[in-house]
Amino acid sequence: MRLRDDVAKVLISEETLQARVAEIGRELNATYTDEDRPLLVAVLKGAFVFLADLTRHLEMRHEVNFMEISSYGTGTKSSGVVRILLDLEQNIEGRHVLIVEDIVDSGRTLEYITRNLQTRRPTSLRVCTLLSKPSRREVGVTVDFVGFEVPDEFVVGYGLDFAEEYRNLPFIGVLKEKVYAGQ
Ligand code: PRP
Repeated sequence: MRLRDDVAKVLISEETLQARVAEIGRELNATYTDEDRPLLVAVLKGAFVFLADLTRHLEMRHEVNFMEISSYGTGTKSSGVVRILLDLEQNIEGRHVLIVEDIVDSGRTLEYITRNLQTRRPTSLRVCTLLSKPSRREVGVTVDFVGFEVPDEFVVGYGLDFAEEYRNLPFIGVLKEKVYAGQ
């Protein structure tokens, strides 16, 4: 069975995604200058597709790097225990830092990263996420650039996975319930 057959519906089409990513690129172009030379920190693994498209819309000098944060072990996302699996090797003191996420759900991952990076004394720290699920928020977080607000459905594609699959779909889709039932 093909991957695409596990998708119940397309929530955000490839065209709509690409147009919005270009728009966010323009917003970032209006925010940062060459002198700022922002550092985009993408949170692995989900943000790799968004980052790859976004960076190609940016006109200012900038740098990209990656962090990986463990979620909450297996099972449901409720414990709120977060830890760093891959950290930046560089000093970000005095830098303009932009965190790039694929989705903000409970907000716990983002809260942890922002709190952690803030202690390293960047000049500015902003957040850009492709998707946000405001109805799932458990902690208050500030997000400066949001691609789309989405309902509380099981979304996959464009970097977002279920059991490490579906990240390659070029659109955001809702997974058929039978695929994740019993998880
Ligand atoms: C996802 C996503 C965010 C986090 C959001 O990552 O990329 O980092 O969950 O959830 P929260 O707001 O409830 O903390 P995930 O742990 O699924 O890892 P992945 O990016 O490797 O798929």
